[in-house]
Amino acid sequence: MQDRLLVAFASGYGSTHDIAEVIGHELRQCGLTVEVRRVGEVRELSRYRAVALGASIRAGQWLFEAAEFLKCHRAALSRVPVAYFVTCMTVRDNTPKNRRAVKAYLEPIRVHVPEVNPVSVGCFAGALNYGSLSMTDKLMARLTRLPDGDFRNWQAIRDWATGLYRVLLN
Ligand SMILES: Cc1cc2nc3c(=O)[nH]c(=O)nc-3n(C[C@H](O)[C@H](O)[C@H](O)COP(=O)(O)O)c2cc1C
Repeated sequence: MQDRLLVAFASGYGSTHDIAEVIGHELRQCGLTVEVRRVGEVRELSRYRAVALGASIRAGQWLFEAAEFLKCHRAALSRVPVAYFVTCMTVRDNTPKNRRAVKAYLEPIRVHVPEVNPVSVGCFAGALNYGSLSMTDKLMARLTRLPDGDFRNWQAIRDWATGLYRVLLN
């Protein structure tokens, strides 16, 4: 119970869900008890010693459910180590400019929930399959020239997760 970790995620089309599962798997390999849950399934956080919270970016913002989860559980999350992870297309070219853009996506979160200070923020390139998008999302994706394809770098995701073990539980 002492070392139980929560990996909570919001995911529109599943690519962040896969990433959350890989993060959970890596942390279990470090000997921890880890639960991977959709944010909507989590009612309370007292069982967890630390939390990794992740979501994809939609039109320049963290998915609504993740932001709501953070606001709803802000008191509990301010008392335990928290890491954020972000999935989006902006960092498929991992340049300093693009990393700054992703940081800007999270700025409203920082402003609205300043009491939660993440010990680490993982930024990962995501995946998009135009064939599975709703009409509205497909239109938005086309208009913003998002690429079709899977750009997830599993090694980078695993490395980040392994490093989390140290920063979340030191
Ligand atoms: C409607 C829509 C809007 C998106 N907007 C952005 C965006 O503003 N910036 C970005 O970098 N990626 C954007 N993306 C890409 C997603 O963040 C990326 O495909 C991610 O892997 C989706 O994760 P999910 O399947 O867990 O929702 C958008 C994707 C969709 C479908």
